[in-house]
Amino acid sequence: MSTTLLQADLPGLTLVHRGKVRDVYALPPAAGVERLLIVATDRLSAFDVVLPDPIPGKGEMLTQLSNFWFARSAALMPNHLLDTAPSAVLPAGVDARLYARRAVVARRLKPVPIEAIARGYLIGSGWKDYQATGKVCGIALPPGLRLAEQLPEPIFTPSTKAAAGDHDENVDFDAVVAKVGAELAERVREATLRLYRWAADYAARRGILIADTKFEFGTDEAGRLYIMDEMLTPDSSRFWPADAYRVGSPPPSYDKQYVRDYLESIGWDKRPPGPRLPPEVIAATAAKYAEALARLADLRLD
Ligand SMILES: Nc1ncnc2c1ncn2[C@@H]1O[C@H](COP(=O)(O)OP(=O)(O)O)[C@@H](O)[C@H]1O
Ligand SMILES: [Mg+2]
Repeated sequence: MSTTLLQADLPGLTLVHRGKVRDVYALPPAAGVERLLIVATDRLSAFDVVLPDPIPGKGEMLTQLSNFWFARSAALMPNHLLDTAPSAVLPAGVDARLYARRAVVARRLKPVPIEAIARGYLIGSGWKDYQATGKVCGIALPPGLRLAEQLPEPIFTPSTKAAAGDHDENVDFDAVVAKVGAELAERVREATLRLYRWAADYAARRGILIADTKFEFGTDEAGRLYIMDEMLTPDSSRFWPADAYRVGSPPPSYDKQYVRDYLESIGWDKRPPGPRLPPEVIAATAAKYAEALARLADLRLD
């Protein structure tokens, strides 16, 4: 059965972060490895505001899709997952069914403080920046590109991780170098583009275009680079059904665009608190997540 959880409640564990979507707890280290229990709740954020209604099962679908990609990409890139089931670390008395499919035990890393975004198509803030300047994150693009057009090649378009309540800001590669140093910046760019190309290839064979995606990376004490957080989910990516793709018009997508469109249609000012969602918008949003999971990973959770 799919479960619904707006906020994790794990007495006895130390909450280290309550994000827009995830509740993150510290676990005792094992074999010298610092560990986290990361719980994906059913919270939905849009325009960087967390909405009051959960999307039932969303956290489970996100976790299972991420886990699928982490497993498949392990040969390309180390990831933060540890081989411990969440049920093995839950405090006594907690209903394990609530957490089994939405939590992971992960290596606690030092986050690389940027959003590592790859874009293969021109949409969203990339399209806005291109229209204003002909560039995205300092990268000059050919003139005359249209909305949703495929780029000549995928580009690395980092943004800064904004503090809570703020919006992320696109920055150029030099800003990343200034923040983390040239060597780490280069490794992050290389990993971002390599993972994007690989995933876009895979998804294309499933009839899905990955217009863009955001990765988060972290390093361990030895300086080794890992991919962490979530990977290639509808929350971190724009997935477009290939058969509905037309250059020049915004494609329908598997991501939060559906909710964003609804929120635009009611004229919400995008300031907290977010509005309640009608049941049909909640159901349709859950169905989008389920469809992405089924089409990409052949997984159905119910
Ligand atoms: N392996 C990890 N080590 C350290 N921090 C991590 C790891 N995986 C994810 N995180 C962090 O945990 C948080 C996940 O919560 P989330 O709800 O996604 O936050 P946000 O609102 O910042 O997107 C993020 O701040 C992310 O950077
Ligand atoms: Mg996040």
